[in-house]
Amino acid sequence: MSDKSQRIIRVFPETATINHHNHLAIAGCDTIELAESFGTPLYVFDETTLRNKCREYTREFNRVYSDVTVAYACKAYANPALVTVLHEEGLWLDAVSGGEMNIARFAGFPPEKVLFHGNNKTQDELEFALDWSIGRVVVDNFREMGLLQNLAAKRQRIQQVLLRLSPEVDPHTHSHTTTGVLDSKFGFPISTGQAEEAIAIAIRSSNLRLAGLHFHLGSPLFEVEPYEQAIKIVLEFASRISRNYDFTLDELDVGGGFAVQYLAEKPAPPASAYAEVIARSILELTSQLDMPLPRLIIEPGRAIIGQAGIALYRAGGNKTIQGVRKYVFVDGGMGDNIRPPLYDARYEAMVANKAASAPEEKVTIAGKFCESGDILIRDIDLPAIQDGDIIAVPVCGAYCLAMSSNYNAYLKPAVILVSEGQAKLMRRRETYADLVRQDLF
Ligand code: LLP
Repeated sequence: MSDKSQRIIRVFPETATINHHNHLAIAGCDTIELAESFGTPLYVFDETTLRNKCREYTREFNRVYSDVTVAYACKAYANPALVTVLHEEGLWLDAVSGGEMNIARFAGFPPEKVLFHGNNKTQDELEFALDWSIGRVVVDNFREMGLLQNLAAKRQRIQQVLLRLSPEVDPHTHSHTTTGVLDSKFGFPISTGQAEEAIAIAIRSSNLRLAGLHFHLGSPLFEVEPYEQAIKIVLEFASRISRNYDFTLDELDVGGGFAVQYLAEKPAPPASAYAEVIARSILELTSQLDMPLPRLIIEPGRAIIGQAGIALYRAGGNKTIQGVRKYVFVDGGMGDNIRPPLYDARYEAMVANKAASAPEEKVTIAGKFCESGDILIRDIDLPAIQDGDIIAVPVCGAYCLAMSSNYNAYLKPAVILVSEGQAKLMRRRETYADLVRQDLF
């Protein structure tokens, strides 16, 4: 196996191997056969990696803290089959829309294990949540609090809520995915007094029960220190508030944002590093401030699903501009993975039918969408690519399909789950008929 293949196979799903045909295999399934049977672009999820990530986060946090709930952030990617696996692994869900709640409901997910987030929840969505008996609504602003109180009162229900705070900590993420700072659309800022006011209103709202506080700093955080800073700010605030109001912090939800390794040379902190710093900060501060230990909720999305998913594309044409670069075109791109143009996200890739072969040329992998920014990977060294070769891109489980579009009226890919040599279709490829199904004329 070439050095390069050896280095990058580690960012692929845990079951990734190179078989005797020199093909990349996932969970014993030859990816070239998968591409033949299901077509391309194809998203392949490895059940073993997914389950192991759920177990790793659950185990590492439970090792250092006594009362932990791991709520998977559906926005990273959700469908009924995946949500069922997460339920089997004991995870809760963080849903951010009526659509995500409906995926969970459709899959028979218990509503008491779902948190409902969002900065502009509609009345319909709040009614959906209440009528489905959702466990917790994470209230983001004053308007939502009033609306939820009224809707809960109409139903004679007491709804458990958390309040989303903005602790004003910079997590050093891409500016598009930084949330816990003052100038953000999310949450009640602490420093302006709005967080205190929100607590006072929540306590007065007879149909809301204030279970605790939430913050989410951004995504992905390659550093652990911002969690420590934010926990200090939020716990000191909670301690001050509990002296003036009838409020005990039963639950502290520190959000998600745990990073994953996309590139061979850019490792991410392991679950244990996040767990240790988060648990230590809560344990030390609650003891200093003489507060009871809250239940800890974490909301990993990317860290649970990212590595489990890969994308398979078929190479088509190419274009060499002498002295400038060689483009290789694939049959997907920004419609199924907007992350490179949107965040300058970088990915590794492997030619799946030449998996162990040494790199021979530097190429830029471009998609087929009608936009110059539709570049999947700029300047990557790969074996020489021929028309029909299969390009595998790792760490595509999170925020690729979830943010996919039908730009140029291309069809969204098929999605499969592989386990022990078997491949199961989780979502069929779209058809042209799907694309005009909602149109009336
Ligand atoms: N909890 C809340 C309240 C969130 O807003 C998010 C992500 C998460 C949890 C999960 O974060 P994770 O553990 O997956 O990092 N589209 C961007 C990421 C946007 C994240 C939005 N919120 C990307 O492709 O990088």
